[in-house]
Amino acid sequence: MSARAWLAEPAESETVAALLVEFRARGHGVGQALMSLALDRARQRGCRRVELDVNERNDAALALYEALGFEITHKPPGGRDVLARRRLEGAA
Ligand SMILES: CC(C)(COP(=O)(O)OP(=O)(O)OC[C@H]1O[C@@H](n2cnc3c(N)ncnc32)[C@H](O)[C@@H]1OP(=O)(O)O)[C@@H](O)C(=O)NCCC(=O)NCCS
Repeated sequence: MSARAWLAEPAESETVAALLVEFRARGHGVGQALMSLALDRARQRGCRRVELDVNERNDAALALYEALGFEITHKPPGGRDVLARRRLEGAA
């Protein structure tokens, strides 16, 4: 998974290279806390929106991103990824 928190200019972006919670630690809010921290950091640095590519079969990740306010958009047929996108309110 790669996540990019775009600024007005796409070249100026934050990147979350991966979001991974060890198997035995899952289901306790760690993933949500980590992603919330990443969103806060991006917001503080003036990023205005976040876009993620997510495998369409990754139910846990899709549910997590939806819980965090991301809009899920299916890409054209044939691919295995969907696009998750949300705006960041209150960006600096
Ligand atoms: C996706 C992942 C990071 C979630 O981490 P986590 O710490 O288990 O998630 P959380 O406990 O913070 O869950 C937050 C919310 O996500 C959703 N969610 C998480 N795991 C879920 C599951 N297995 N099934 C359905 N919903 C799930 C729920 O809405 C949950 O909120 P709730 O507990 O109030 O119902 C973790 O499963 C993981 O590391 N997966 C493998 C790597 C991966 O797929 N990374 C993302 C690639 S885009």
